[in-house]
Amino acid sequence: MSAPASTGTPEEELPNPLTEGLERLPVHSTALVIFGATGDLSRRKLLPALYNLAHEGALPERFELVGVSRSEHSDAEFAKDAAEAIREFSRRDPDEEVLKGLLEHVRYVSGSFDDPDVFRRLGQVLGELDDAAGQRLNRCFYLSTAPSFFPVIVSNLGEQGLDRHDDAEVRCVIEKPFGTTLEEARELNRCVLAVFDERQVFRIDHYLGKETVQNVLAFRFANSLFEPLWNRNAIRNVQITAAEDIGIGSRAGYYDSAGALRDLVQNHMLQLLCLLCMEPPVDFSADAVRDEKVKVLRAIKPPPPERTVRARYGPGTVGGEQVPGYLEEEGVPADSSTETYAALRLTVQNWRWAGVPIYLRTGKRLARKSTEIAVTLREVPHAMFKQDGSVGVQPNQLVLGVQPNEGVSIKLSAKIPGTRMSIRPVNMEFLYGTSFLSQSPEAYERLILDAMRGDATLFTRNDEVEAQWRICDPIVRRWHEEDQGPLPTYESGTQGPEEANSILVGDDQWRAI
Ligand code: BG6
Repeated sequence: MSAPASTGTPEEELPNPLTEGLERLPVHSTALVIFGATGDLSRRKLLPALYNLAHEGALPERFELVGVSRSEHSDAEFAKDAAEAIREFSRRDPDEEVLKGLLEHVRYVSGSFDDPDVFRRLGQVLGELDDAAGQRLNRCFYLSTAPSFFPVIVSNLGEQGLDRHDDAEVRCVIEKPFGTTLEEARELNRCVLAVFDERQVFRIDHYLGKETVQNVLAFRFANSLFEPLWNRNAIRNVQITAAEDIGIGSRAGYYDSAGALRDLVQNHMLQLLCLLCMEPPVDFSADAVRDEKVKVLRAIKPPPPERTVRARYGPGTVGGEQVPGYLEEEGVPADSSTETYAALRLTVQNWRWAGVPIYLRTGKRLARKSTEIAVTLREVPHAMFKQDGSVGVQPNQLVLGVQPNEGVSIKLSAKIPGTRMSIRPVNMEFLYGTSFLSQSPEAYERLILDAMRGDATLFTRNDEVEAQWRICDPIVRRWHEEDQGPLPTYESGTQGPEEANSILVGDDQWRAI
């Protein structure tokens, strides 16, 4: 195919032959209702995602947006606020025409989520939107509020009969955290499933919407190269890292009651583990994929204390800036015992993975932002080459980079040019940016679209979320309810606490962050 002639349009708008075939699937006309529409998540992620979907023509032919929040606003004020949020947070500068089209008919319902009248008014607004469209629109309720409101919103939707709509689909998207303990997650599932059927429920884990996370499945199941190696015979260990350089910002209220384990391990990191370790599903349908993920979670026992490490960041330097320690952050209680770093060693006790150490670590205020899965293979069985003054033969390592290095890298051993047989590791790299020449959509774009389409493959099922809690709950209880003595600290901007080395088996080492 010849290169497209220049049209004078900005570079990102040129047709990209490498993304051909990535067509959008049609979505039925929908009214999307965001509860918590003026909140942080909505402003930073949901509204910008909707704009980008509109920009790409991916929204349904008839798309209506309704915001519900406590603050008093008119429709026009909400539209203005939404436009500002989009201008500030969208990944591309908005085209004012597209923005106007998206927000032209926006509706807003204000009031408290426990007030049945709010839901009566919402019902009326949705009825008016159906009338104006001349058809029954699908309804998608997006719960982006503080989690304590999830049960009351769901019950009110049920009581006002908004959980069903004749000849149209009704769906309910629920943000994280889905409970803060196993018992709470069970209770929330009971409450949600008393109103909606499981097929109507979409529990968000935004990591599943990331391109590079979905690529773990593509990498494993669209290549025959790796499957023969994907087991305990060839793999020595797996390391999953979700390191952040940021602190807790203005989220002390939420974070101090959550901690690193609940905030990132219970959801995002266990999902990464599942995608890496699951058996090939029969097809890429929601239940086939989720059945396999649940099997992995069921094969993991909660780790004993000696396989877990927690710590908290102290002051230090990040990106050349002096930053305070966790206890000095605004809103954090002086006697807080919340961890900002968690490391675990797990094993998946099944035929494929028995005995392979699977290390998970996450933390705030570490050296840099880096999310990756590293799979280290076993050493060659016989050291044939002398370690002749070189770094020598090292185990092959496969690194699936989630962010910010989006791609896959394979560490191989190669001969250093010269007259001696000296070996050192080299990398073979696939980089998203280079191969596809396009900016990846944000996770929320994909997830909102999938929820409106009714495709739950990238959402967590009720039994899955409970299985995740079953692994983390005993650790949470140990860390938060029992006196564990002083919490280890690590200097901000570093690799994390020394103590993390204590969970490594034999010669295993953490990769540098
Ligand atoms: C969220 C956590 O779920 O994920 C945050 O609550 C964390 O604490 C964030 O910073 C990380 O997401 P991402 O997409 O930036 O890796």
